[in-house]
Order: sequence, then structure tokens, then C-alpha cells
Amino acid sequence: MAEKQFPKGFLWGGATAANQYEGGWDLGGRGPATSDTAKAVRPEERQNLEGFSAAMTREKVEFALHDKEGLYPKRWGTDFYHRYKEDIALFAEMGFKTFRLSIAWSRIFPNGDDAQPNEEGLAFYDAVFDELGKYGIEPLVTLSHYETPIHLALEYGGWKDRRVIAFFEKYARTVFERYQDKVKYWLTFNEINIMGISGYVGGGLLFEDGKQNFQDLYQAAHHQFVASSLAVKAAREINPQFQVGMMLARMQAYPATCNPLDVMEEIKKDHENLFFSDVQVRGKYPAYAKRFFKEKGIELEIADGDLELLAQYPVDFMSFSYYMSSVARASEGSGEKTAGNFSLGEKNPYLEASDWGWQIDPVGLRITLNNLYDRYQVPLFIVENGLGALDKVEADGSIHDSYRIDYMKAHIEQMYEAIEDGVELMGYTPWGCIDLVSASTSEMSKRYGFIYVDADDEGHGTYDRSRKDSFYWYQEVIESNGASVLNEKGAEQE
Ligand code: BG6
Repeated sequence: MAEKQFPKGFLWGGATAANQYEGGWDLGGRGPATSDTAKAVRPEERQNLEGFSAAMTREKVEFALHDKEGLYPKRWGTDFYHRYKEDIALFAEMGFKTFRLSIAWSRIFPNGDDAQPNEEGLAFYDAVFDELGKYGIEPLVTLSHYETPIHLALEYGGWKDRRVIAFFEKYARTVFERYQDKVKYWLTFNEINIMGISGYVGGGLLFEDGKQNFQDLYQAAHHQFVASSLAVKAAREINPQFQVGMMLARMQAYPATCNPLDVMEEIKKDHENLFFSDVQVRGKYPAYAKRFFKEKGIELEIADGDLELLAQYPVDFMSFSYYMSSVARASEGSGEKTAGNFSLGEKNPYLEASDWGWQIDPVGLRITLNNLYDRYQVPLFIVENGLGALDKVEADGSIHDSYRIDYMKAHIEQMYEAIEDGVELMGYTPWGCIDLVSASTSEMSKRYGFIYVDADDEGHGTYDRSRKDSFYWYQEVIESNGASVLNEKGAEQE
């Protein structure tokens, strides 16, 4: 039997974001961003995503910016700013074909609404892209990954103000023009559906009464949809070779039982999640949105030309993060709860969970790929997936992360099955390919990397890099284009 492997040209790589990795928050002319106000969560508070999804007020933001006592680890991340050459050499050693990173908007426009871009910031990413180019690694660049310039939050209330659209368009045009020969793949907003959960993380929204409201969240989402289409338009004008994608935190819901009410609940949950990709991939608001808006009391202000713009400039491909699935039940309360990246959900008795309570569901990835491809018929890209775990460094410095290898192996097998099912899959960039600060808890001890970074939750350590067992394992996966996993004796058969 012929050896199984992934399609030729499959983009293997890894993913990061400036707000958790880059650091240098006050260097090179960078302005502060919303992520700089995220305080580290203690292990005993992990189930309480207060810092991540709570409503933010001006007072809280200003307190964080001037706080001398608190710990704000995203400000230094894991120091890509100073170590990008060393890190990129390690990615090249693993054989990366692509590397996902984000540009910190406030490194280019420190306040977000500046008249001129910051040349030092532009030069930094030139150097990064040139370094990637040396190794033939294709950058995959997110324009906005949880790092809205703080000035836009304080001055405009973030994305709920329509004026922010024009600032974003200017930023997108600036980087598209500058890097037009160095970058081909772009994503507009990371996990754009975060806007339904945390307006501050998603777009610097402030809620002075301390309570988020749907009206502002969905108005801000509308502004991001328009901004994303304007970015697609700019991309077409600047370099027709550009490929621009949207990015969704996908969470496939399963009905808790075959009770039709649970199935209907699953459809509702799916609608809440897929609403964002429905708009960005299909270029129009889905029919079900009408009822959802009515029930939530949302009345969108849509300017002349907005809907035409959405229809004319949908994205070229769809990317998504996949960490877990969820359970939908119509009646409240019977199931046990478990953690997830956005919220607490019901425990699925068929699945195991990570150290942080995120349920591990490789078959769910195949289901997700099939469902998304059936729905949209556009190329898909898995731009985040992985296991956040506590790693142990042995006395000789080695790190035996077999749990991470098992997790990835199982997901890669299911990706292959989905491709065999007919899904068009562009590539795979596991999250946090090098250890970085957690988005939800700002901890260091929640590690995803193939590369270990010597740093603890308090920011102590040398920040030196070392290779985990998974580094060598992933190197072989890429080298063999997946064959090392797919043809392993005992590899899961359909
Ligand atoms: C995604 C985000 O939600 O999940 C990343 O796009 C994040 O920024 C990742 O880091 C994992 O979440 P966490 O909270 O474990 O870092």
C-alpha cells in the first residue's frame, strides 16, 4: 500500500501573536495596547476568567497602566523582540514552511490614530520578514490579535466607535504596502467572535457601568466586518497575489442527547459561533441574525454602502483555532461544568481534559473541518491547535512532553482523514510553537511549545530556549510531510 502523506505544498508551521510573545512593550516607539493591562491570574483563579472577559472601565485601564505592584506578563511576552533571529533559526531547524505572527498595531501607529506610522516599528517587522525569508519560511500575518492600541480604547471607546474603521484601514494599507513583497498570507482579526464575549480583548471596548451590553458588542463587530472588507479591498489593489483570511475560534457543539430540544440548542450555539464566519465568508448577514438581534435588543447602525462592501469583499479563505468541542443542552444545570478558552461549558463524558480542563477531542477536528467545508466551500487553515500543559524540566535539561506529542498526533490523523473526506486544507500552525504567555490567564506555566522558554509566572528566568522532545518529533512530521504519523505502526485506521 502506498505511503500516506499530506498533499504537496501543505503549510506546516507554528503560530504566535505579538501580545503574548513579542514583548518590548515600551521599546522602539511602540504605544501601549489593551493586552498590556492584562494582569496575571493566580492558579487558584484559573476558572474565573475575570481579567480576560470582564467588562473594562476607563478607571481599570488607567489603574493598570500606572500600577507599580501588579504583574503584567504580556508586556514582555517571551521576548521575540530581542530574540527573533534565534527563534526563527529554531523554527527553520524544525522545518517550518510557514510561521504565524501578528503585527502589534501600536508598534506601527502608537496611538492608533496617528498621522504618520512609526518607522522604527515598520523596520522591526522588515527585519523579521527578511529573517524568515532567509529560510524560505512564509509569514502568515494577523493584523489584530487582542492588541488594540490603548489610546483607541480611552479616546474612542474602542471599536464601538465607527471612526476606528478608518484608522484600521490606514494601518492595513500601510503594512500591505510596506511588506507587499515579503508577505502573502494575511488574517484580519484573530478570533473575531471574541467580540461576542469580551469587547475589551476583541476591540478595546469600555463599559463604564461595569457591564457589557450586546448592542455595543455587535455594533463593534459590525465595524470590524466593514474594516475587514476594506482590508480585503486594499489587498486586491496593492497586491492581487495576497490571500486574506478571516479567523474564528471554532467550537463545534454536540447535542447532549437526541432530544430534539437539545439538537435545536446545538443549532443555536452553532449560529452564535458561525455568525462571524457567515458574514465574513459569505459576505452577508445570515437570516438567523434577525431573530438573534431582536431577542438581544440589538439595533445595528449600518451606514450606506456597508452591506455592499461586505458582499463585494469577502475573505479568500477561512482560518480557525480549534482546541475543543462543546455540549449543548436545552435544560439548564444537569451536566458537570468544564473550562474552555472562552467560557465554562458542560462536560462531555466521552472526552478527556487537559490540566486546564479543556476537553481534548481530535475527532471533533475532523467534524469541524467537514462542517466548515460543507458550509463555505473555501480553503480552510487551522491556525491554532495545541495542548496547554505543565512541563517538567529534567536534571539534564530535557523535557519529555509525550502528552503533547500524543495530542498532536491524534489531531494530525484526523486532519488527514478530513482531507481524504474532500476538505481543502491549506496548512496547520499549532499554537504557541514556542512557549509564550497565556491569553486567558497570563501565566507562563501553561505551555504549548515545541521550544521551551526558561521563565516562570513571575517573569523570572533566563528566557533561554531549549528543545522539548516534541521539537524533534514535529521536525520529523514536517520532514516526512506527515508520513511519520500516518504510517506509524498502529496509526489509527478509519
Ligand atoms: C486562542 C487565542 O483563543 O487561544 C490565543 O487566539 C491563545 O491568543 C490561545 O493564547 C490559547 O489560549 P490560552 O488562554 O491557553 O493562552
